Amino acid sequence: MTKVDLKFVEGLTLAERASLVTGHDFWFTAEVPGSKKMMLTDGPSGLRKQADDADALGLNDSVDAVCFPCSALTAASFDDDGLLKLGQHLGIAAKAERIGVLLGPGVNIKRSPLAGRNFEYFSEDPLLAGRMATAYVKGVQSEDVGVSVKHFALNNRENQRFTSSSNVDERTMREIYLAQFERVVKQAHPATIMCSYNKINGTLNSQNQRLLTRILRDEWGFTGLVMSDWGAVADHVAALKAGLDLEMPGNGQASVDEIVQAVNEGRLDEAILNRSALRVLKMVERWGSEGEVSDYDKEEQHRFARQLADDGIVLLKNDDQELPLTNDTKLAVIGELAEHPRYQGAGSSHVNAHHLVSPLDAMPAGARYAQGYELTSDQEDEQLTAAALDLAKQSDQVVFFAGFPAAMESEGFDKTSIDLPANQTELLAKLRAVNPHLTVVLQNGSVVAMPWADQVPAIVETYLAGEAVGEATWDILLGRVNPSGKLSESFPFKLSDNPTYPTFDQDKNNENYREGLLVGYRYYDSKHLPVRFPFGHGLSYTSFQYSDLAVKQADGQLTVSFKLTNTGQVAGKEVAQIYVGNRVSMIEKPAKELRDFVKVELEPGQSKTISRVLPRRAFAWYNPEQEVWQADNGEYEIFIGSSVADIRLHQRIDYQLGTPVQVRLTSETYVGDMMKHQTPTIKRALQETGLADKLATILNSDNAAIFANIPLRSLVMAGISPEEVQQLIRLANA
Ligand code: GLC
Repeated sequence: MTKVDLKFVEGLTLAERASLVTGHDFWFTAEVPGSKKMMLTDGPSGLRKQADDADALGLNDSVDAVCFPCSALTAASFDDDGLLKLGQHLGIAAKAERIGVLLGPGVNIKRSPLAGRNFEYFSEDPLLAGRMATAYVKGVQSEDVGVSVKHFALNNRENQRFTSSSNVDERTMREIYLAQFERVVKQAHPATIMCSYNKINGTLNSQNQRLLTRILRDEWGFTGLVMSDWGAVADHVAALKAGLDLEMPGNGQASVDEIVQAVNEGRLDEAILNRSALRVLKMVERWGSEGEVSDYDKEEQHRFARQLADDGIVLLKNDDQELPLTNDTKLAVIGELAEHPRYQGAGSSHVNAHHLVSPLDAMPAGARYAQGYELTSDQEDEQLTAAALDLAKQSDQVVFFAGFPAAMESEGFDKTSIDLPANQTELLAKLRAVNPHLTVVLQNGSVVAMPWADQVPAIVETYLAGEAVGEATWDILLGRVNPSGKLSESFPFKLSDNPTYPTFDQDKNNENYREGLLVGYRYYDSKHLPVRFPFGHGLSYTSFQYSDLAVKQADGQLTVSFKLTNTGQVAGKEVAQIYVGNRVSMIEKPAKELRDFVKVELEPGQSKTISRVLPRRAFAWYNPEQEVWQADNGEYEIFIGSSVADIRLHQRIDYQLGTPVQVRLTSETYVGDMMKHQTPTIKRALQETGLADKLATILNSDNAAIFANIPLRSLVMAGISPEEVQQLIRLANA
């Protein structure tokens, strides 16, 4: 292929250039003289390459491929290295199948527990989502396959996703909903970004110039290609002008004719068309994959899928060491999900799984199974119930498989409830009544309400664990693997505790992010609202001690160090989480926010000292007026925890690596703020005007609190003239 550059593009006919900026068909880019076509294919948790009938929702067949755990589970590993390896495996599979760009990962924030695609997204926290996605992208692209980080941006609801407007304030957008995209773009340089269907504050994202060009390219330095989600383009000319380079899927000759006509009529600048055509050609040149499909080791990939699930599965509860199960126990395995497991999501991420191993397939010898309920119904079945209870009575321990049936959660629509089907919860209660040794294993793509949690001794969250779900589940239950997963999202006691309730999905055309920054744990933790299981929570078969916290500011950086010790009897991994609480900036802010985490493996009795540098950004908030990330000097709290609610170490610090809090005096400045943030110039101005003594007297009087809370323009109430105030302001701001 000849090297593509603008000269090459200008050598193409107008029609050829127009054919490049729309897909050739559902999965391919167009071929022009000197440049072959390239295939794009889903998905985030395994290859969905469709040989024949193409569709965007996993309805038709796709090639045999290993189905890895969904992103909800991989994020629970909090393991960057695991996500890197997942990316490498996906890259190997895509390369072998001659795919140029893999359409993933999905990095949208889990805002409401009802959102239909939460299984496919990493977290409610942008740092965790950003770190997992960055590792994943580096992994895929290390195998010479491009990615498409999606869905850019604020695609946090499925219902009316093609038209709904996500209405959000600038600071929330920057700090919560764009931050993970920003991290991936700056640290992993993804080949492409996929713009989402929805609008942001009324502007359709496929033609959102501020999002696709000003923020993505001008601010973040993205140099790749922007493609649309499938069917997201409403006005192709407007989309090209906004910075969308490739409309997918292709709309055929009609789209080519539309673009040619727009150029000929002067409605579309030819330079804009050439710019996008060049980006398509450069994508194909860099990532295009020619030649015959080849084999790759799917059994090795299956083994990795199992290991990845092992690393993410979360032990939510384990009273009196109910788990791990002992081999010599009479074990009952109950629930149709053991036989027909939920192991992947529905929609465009659907994989034609290479080798599904169900929990029933992998259950230990001697264990006995009862279906218990029907997945296709929420009605109890008397016979199934009776057989299950009978088995439970004869057994030492019961493992009950529960979860959301496939029909309940998927891409394309949102859930209406987070409750398990009634036939499962009714059976669970009856099983508990006949056998207290009851472990619940959950298979769900997103948050589930657990009103029964206090009645059972053990709960294991396996989410959608991929094709190796059976082996991984028993790895954990039997103690072959010590669980180390941590929740990447909060599990509230009930849906109505969530801050997006009851407004989520109430307005067909608008989704109003009224909770602002307080999404997920940022809400529950700031509100001191207890939850069933908090963000970052996950138990182990061993125990960990945290000690010796030290925070140092030197050489322009802040270092947090602490010691972690395995105080139990078995080896294990702990995810130590570092949260920061801003106590200085005079703005709305969550009580604390995740600013770093590290997964540490320790032998019994082993200790390690962990040392982490927190960058300036870990202390920053986005200032919309100044359009900058601002880290104010002053008081912060550093928390080290085993979850957001299980803080083990804590220290207040005076951060001095940011920007001095600039209090530019105005007549509206409050006396208290001025006195709290006295910069040297303010101190000098107070002295020179003689107001230092006057104010000291006032603020030492019984009325101190009242006077601290009045603006300078009202100091006449304290006998200070407007002229004196103006002189103070002039000197202080000099
Ligand atoms: C779908 C999804 C997107 C997927 C694309 C192609 O509608 O939103 O994630 O990559 O279309 O299947």
